[in-house]
Amino acid sequence: MNTTLSIIKADIGSIGGHIKPSQRLMERVREYLKTKGGDLFTDCRVSSTGDDVAILFSHHQGTLNEEIHKLAWDTFIEGTEVAKEQGLYGAGQDLLKDAFSGNVKGMGPAVAELEFEERPNEPFLFFAADKTDPGAYNLPLFLSFADPMHNSGLILSPKMSKGFRFVIMDVSYVQGDRVIELNTPEEIYDIAALLRDNERFVVESIYSRETGDQAVSVSTTRLHNIAGKYTGKDDPVMLVRVQGGFPATGEVLSPYNIGHFVAGFMRGSHNGPLMPVKKNSTISYFDGPPVVTCQAFCVHAGKLTESVDVFDHPYWDWVRNEVSRKATELRRQGFSGPAMLPYSELEYGGIVEKMKKLDKKFQVREK
Ligand code: 13P
Ligand code: 13P
Ligand code: MG
Ligand code: MG
Repeated sequence: MNTTLSIIKADIGSIGGHIKPSQRLMERVREYLKTKGGDLFTDCRVSSTGDDVAILFSHHQGTLNEEIHKLAWDTFIEGTEVAKEQGLYGAGQDLLKDAFSGNVKGMGPAVAELEFEERPNEPFLFFAADKTDPGAYNLPLFLSFADPMHNSGLILSPKMSKGFRFVIMDVSYVQGDRVIELNTPEEIYDIAALLRDNERFVVESIYSRETGDQAVSVSTTRLHNIAGKYTGKDDPVMLVRVQGGFPATGEVLSPYNIGHFVAGFMRGSHNGPLMPVKKNSTISYFDGPPVVTCQAFCVHAGKLTESVDVFDHPYWDWVRNEVSRKATELRRQGFSGPAMLPYSELEYGGIVEKMKKLDKKFQVREK
């Protein structure tokens, strides 16, 4: 029997702005899953990253399962009630549709799912990022799956020598899923050419070319495409299977020491370095910086072990200091140039109105 891992994540309200969900909200979410879950799933974990609540289910129902997705949706509706009772900010922020239909894709919550036949040992990583969008994982995934500077297994392990197949989605295309499949190592320059544009091309999944097994699943939601306006950043989640024919855990984590600049930060309209933080971390400086959490698990017969909080280690304290320095450096130039996203990516309707008004005031000088 195959095991399925499903992460379904939403911002349903938080304390003091876009900072962190309340304890009462988190408790209600856990209680609801316990009482309504029945035997639908074999295991489940609830955690927060910034203002986002993520539910990790382990089950045997396959991906895009209606009952699992409905349970998550109903849980978020229930959590939203607490957010309203407590007057939390942005209650129900990511629940963009009124009625549930089939699965939560396209309804606001972010989803990443993997279905596989369990290996005798099945370690995996669960990433959640806040104040950024799915393209934030592009560079780390490229480096940990295609670059021997981060993945020594590409040199040392025969199990990875055939490389990986990247499935990349054009998230600006809204009529359907527009995807391209490219192979490493032959096509790494083509992959890089696409992945440089984090706002348009996003790694959706990665497969081992040795076994055909899926290693990675990333949520590719663009809330802007669903709502037609700014309703919060996309705050992506990701599952990565590790070890054996996949990169080692440390190889997947390695690129997060860069603190690369990603879109998001204040009002989803800036660039900022991605800071690896401990689970249940809050948001602070300039509604950021953009953060990423990572929990390691093993799953066996659908049962999850306790998680290991991989960025809770002295090494990452040093990285966090470096990232703070980078964030401060870029923030020093405020709204100017690369500190802010280009006009096409600005998430606020206000600036569109402003530019329209200003446009009328321009005059072309007579020669
Ligand atoms: P194993 O030899 O236990 O698989 O460990 C290799 C490894 O992944 C070290 O990073
Ligand atoms: P979230 O997408 O995390 O809700 O953040 C929105 C925002 O505007 C932060 O300034
Ligand atoms: Mg929010
Ligand atoms: Mg958020």
